[in-house]
Amino acid sequence: MEKFSGQVAVITGAASGIGLGISKKLLESGAKIALLDIDQEGLEEAFKDFKNSVMLYSVNITHSRAVEGVLNNILDEWGQIDILINCAGMTGITNTQSHLVDEENLREVFELNFMGAFMMTKLVIPHMLDRNYGRILHLASIAGKEGNAGMLAYSASKAAVIGMTKVQGKEYAETGITVNALAPAVIKTPLVEAMPDEQVTYMTEKIPMKRCGTLAEVADTALYIVSRRNSFTTGFTFDLSGGRATY
Ligand SMILES: NC(=O)c1ccc[n+]([C@@H]2O[C@H](COP(=O)([O-])OP(=O)(O)OC[C@H]3O[C@@H](n4cnc5c(N)ncnc54)[C@H](O)[C@@H]3O)[C@@H](O)[C@H]2O)c1
Repeated sequence: MEKFSGQVAVITGAASGIGLGISKKLLESGAKIALLDIDQEGLEEAFKDFKNSVMLYSVNITHSRAVEGVLNNILDEWGQIDILINCAGMTGITNTQSHLVDEENLREVFELNFMGAFMMTKLVIPHMLDRNYGRILHLASIAGKEGNAGMLAYSASKAAVIGMTKVQGKEYAETGITVNALAPAVIKTPLVEAMPDEQVTYMTEKIPMKRCGTLAEVADTALYIVSRRNSFTTGFTFDLSGGRATY
């Protein structure tokens, strides 16, 4: 496993689930990390034993002015950002056919899953360009590749994230910045636990391995994607679906 000593990572949605799992693994590997989440209590509880190598920011990542202030603060304190991992996300209302979808909820899901991830890159990339180095990872989803019935907002917003990853990978391919995505199938986290059983069964039954992925599996793959060793892959959506998406 590569050591990340001397590197600074910014991770959104770090108080829970996948963001938390990846953050802890990066900390163990020597990175300094700045963690952004709307859930202040969750952040403080999760990272109370790691005071020296973390900075915690309670922020709604859809509020770009507030995020800009946070990023300036990180740069003032630590002087650089090597890695950006966008984990903050929501499913919105699920188990609902498209003709019954609530437009307000559809917009809310896009605002966080797509616009939130986009704004993070818009604010961080200029700094990475100055240093000619960066590793960006967007958390997409199998739902964005395959389309999960009953999950229009989530699936379409994650498809948009996959599209953005392809665009950004090409746009910065001649710099030292790579932009990739990761598309897990079902990983047992609070996001999945909050969904109706019917919807989770629908998704898990489609996985050839007939099981959920683990946080350790997500974190291992994510750490490779944001490492220096991952230097010839950009614009790509890595699969983590137990055989469901073989492309
Ligand atoms: N769990 C899965 O099976 C799975 C599968 C595929 C993709 N994903 C994606 O992985 C990412 C993480 O999912 P998870 O399962 O860990 O979810 P989770 O619900 O456990 O964690 C999401 C985190 O995002 C934070 N958050 C929500 N809205 C925010 C906002 N406006 N500003 C800042 N923080 C906010 C939450 O407080 C929470 O800590 C999401 O983008 C999700 O779509 C998850």
